[in-house]
Amino acid sequence: MEFIDLKAQYQALKPEIDAAIQSVLETMHFIGGTPVTELEKELASFAGREHCITCGNGTDALQLAFMALGIGAGDAVFCPDITFIASVEPACMLGASPVFCDVEMDTYNLSPESLERQINAVLAEGKLTPKAVVAVDILGNPCGYDEITPICEKYGLALIEDAAQSFGASYKGKRAGSFGRIATTSFFPVKPLGCYGDGGAVFTDDGDLDKLIRSLCVHGKGPGGKYDNIRIGLNSRLDALQAAILQPKLKALRNWETDARQTVAKRYNAAFAGKLVTPYVAEGCVSVYAQYALLAKDTAQREQILSHLKEREIPYMVYYPTPQHALPVYRERPQYGEPFQNANDYCARVFSLPMYPYLEEAEQQVIIDTVLEALNS
Ligand SMILES: Cc1ncc(COP(=O)(O)O)c(C=O)c1O
Repeated sequence: MEFIDLKAQYQALKPEIDAAIQSVLETMHFIGGTPVTELEKELASFAGREHCITCGNGTDALQLAFMALGIGAGDAVFCPDITFIASVEPACMLGASPVFCDVEMDTYNLSPESLERQINAVLAEGKLTPKAVVAVDILGNPCGYDEITPICEKYGLALIEDAAQSFGASYKGKRAGSFGRIATTSFFPVKPLGCYGDGGAVFTDDGDLDKLIRSLCVHGKGPGGKYDNIRIGLNSRLDALQAAILQPKLKALRNWETDARQTVAKRYNAAFAGKLVTPYVAEGCVSVYAQYALLAKDTAQREQILSHLKEREIPYMVYYPTPQHALPVYRERPQYGEPFQNANDYCARVFSLPMYPYLEEAEQQVIIDTVLEALNS
């Protein structure tokens, strides 16, 4: 059994994926070209955005966003305490300071109350300039944008949506990737929309930001092209093979994979309701369940479940064992008195079970039975 079975997806899409790869091999155009421009149009239209710029990976996508917004030394970038380090790491590379905020105990996403507390704490201290908020749609479940967006507006902060885990999800009828001045995603292979290597994308409705990010992606190229460098940039691009592979995968995500993920999640929810804390998806939202995460009663119960799963060779993961504020790289930084109660509690209890659109009902039943056995032992 696999935690995320990419082979099952490949088997389902094999004719289209093989043909896509073959078509690139026939042109021998591996960088840029038709697959990349076509995919960017399809991604922008899917996310409901004016512009999509593909790039090397989801971390570069965030770095490009921070660079385009002019974030650097002396700036504070607010970020939820539960995420992968890449959400704010590129801002630190640019000299900015991360300020972590607690999460909500239902969605595990950025808490608007904690965000506002941390913004005020930074303002009161007077050392950093609040500049941006990274809202991460954790585990594939969209953030509360109706609450977060007005806070960003109130304090004049740029909102960046990190949709690395949520491409395909939606919030009140708007797709992930459509929130904030800039949104980013990752095409890391096991993401809801994954390629066969590294890949990422940046989304915006702002034509000037689109032009700037396209320049930043290619060594700060100017109007004269790649040898007319007018700023310091990166070399970050999605190659033609990855773009071609992503086209049929995007179609599958749109046409059935998001629905199939709901079916798998519903079966788990029904089996674990009242026994473990099952995922909460707010009214009007669709999660893409990049991970199906459960909360045990406490760490001891989680360890008991995980050791039983291990014994039965059922894969599991813990996303994430440590909140950002407690990582060795960040723990000496100012935390402004925030207790991070929810984030600490989440990390102590969370674990994830196999989740992918092609998970067969019989296989899923084995996983469910094994977890229930552990709970009853
Ligand atoms: C929330 C989040 N942001 C950013 C990234 C970075 O994406 P990549 O691995 O493509 O650089 C990831 C990848 O795991 C992620 O989960």
